[in-house]
Amino acid sequence: MLKALLALVVIGVGLWAWRRWHYRSFWLVLGYPLMALSVRASWRRVALGCGLTKKRQRWWFTTVPGAIASTGIVKVRRRFQRVAVDTKPWMWLPLPTRHGWRVTLWTLEGQVPGDYAEAAEALAHSWGVHAVRVSSPRPGRVVLMATMRDPLVKIDHLPASPELLKVTVGRLETGKPWVVDFRTIPHWLNAGATQSGKSNLANALIVGLAPQPVALVGFDLKGGVEFTPYAPRLSALATDRSESLKLLDDLVALMVDRMGLCRQAAARNIWQLPPALRPVPVVVLVDELAELYLMADKSEKDEVARTSTALLRVAQLGRAFGIYLFCCGQRIGSDLGPGVTALRAQCSGRICHRVNDPETATMTLGDLDPAALVSARSIAAETPGVAIIASSDGQWYRARSFYVTETAAEHAARTYAHLAPAWDEITAHLPDFDPSQLLDA
Ligand SMILES: Nc1ncnc2c1ncn2[C@@H]1O[C@H](COP(=O)(O)OP(=O)(O)O)[C@@H](O)[C@H]1O
Ligand SMILES: [Mg+2]
Repeated sequence: MLKALLALVVIGVGLWAWRRWHYRSFWLVLGYPLMALSVRASWRRVALGCGLTKKRQRWWFTTVPGAIASTGIVKVRRRFQRVAVDTKPWMWLPLPTRHGWRVTLWTLEGQVPGDYAEAAEALAHSWGVHAVRVSSPRPGRVVLMATMRDPLVKIDHLPASPELLKVTVGRLETGKPWVVDFRTIPHWLNAGATQSGKSNLANALIVGLAPQPVALVGFDLKGGVEFTPYAPRLSALATDRSESLKLLDDLVALMVDRMGLCRQAAARNIWQLPPALRPVPVVVLVDELAELYLMADKSEKDEVARTSTALLRVAQLGRAFGIYLFCCGQRIGSDLGPGVTALRAQCSGRICHRVNDPETATMTLGDLDPAALVSARSIAAETPGVAIIASSDGQWYRARSFYVTETAAEHAARTYAHLAPAWDEITAHLPDFDPSQLLDA
């Protein structure tokens, strides 16, 4: 008896230790098979509870009371007849993922992926998992992705980013990497309240892009406090309004010049040019977008209008000519002027950290699923770096950036300072051209 008890204790401690020290093997060998069995076994009940079943007419054996026998016992007759039964969506075997599991379902007639998205929270509670996310790879199929625990609580280190203009900045809720790829999504809007992790993301970009053959340009109208330490790797930095106007004029002129280059070579964009001719890509980082649009008094009105137009120009045409925008902002609202709304329309990359006002979340995530907005509004202050992102596959994800300190970004900026193309060199051959002509037109 004592021996049996001891054995149980030893097994219990062993399992606990296994789970504690090597969760991945524990999950694959023990946790996942048990979970898969229980999910399959309980699917009918869960689907019924979450309202995902449909009534269907089926031929079924039913029992009907028959004649009363002489002994007084009701004889039951079995009959084959059509009855309405609850059918559940057909479920594949759940497959293990890094942080949980995923399973493919065949939707029933009349169902859309939205029905499953609506039931996602109920499903998560029924299965006792952290969250269930729904995607639909093709019509008639729905993939449910369950994560056991919040995978974004702790995040490891920033990996190297070997591909041009592509930086892995964090991790998605699904366990996949969160990639900012300027060649697929050229312009980004990054919103968040103070201390929400906006600058952290900019740091991650600087660390990722510093070793690459790209020019980095900074706009930091908070007096340059954020970006000045990274100046060694920046090709240009604007810290006040007049500097930013000058720099934007340069960018527009650069764009017009590259346009001419592409036209001559009959190329649609700089990537179609032969490598020898291809100009260096420029990534423009803006810290605090609102500063560019705010005016202290009336006298700045013209300057603000020019800034706004130039920035919009860059956003509209920059993509093809290798000029990419990454705009961070605490508040992104229509009250900043029509320029912001127009700029927003050009930025297809959307990142929404914790925000203070619902309007910023709506402006940033806008046209996405309303559930994304709810999720954005529920980001806790204790988890800076967590954000809702709109992905290139049309989905939205919760994600968390890798923690990249200012020191790390400064270090990268100094280490790769020699790779920073000089702004004078980039703009040297620009024809004498007055960009204001273009803006007035
Ligand atoms: N991904 C992250 N993981 C952990 N801590 C983070 C993360 N991002 C930001 N932080 C913490 O939050 C603080 C504020 O982040 P910061 O990027 O400066 O915010 P913001 O620029 O939005 O004001 C940072 O000093 C850092 O300690
Ligand atoms: Mg900041």
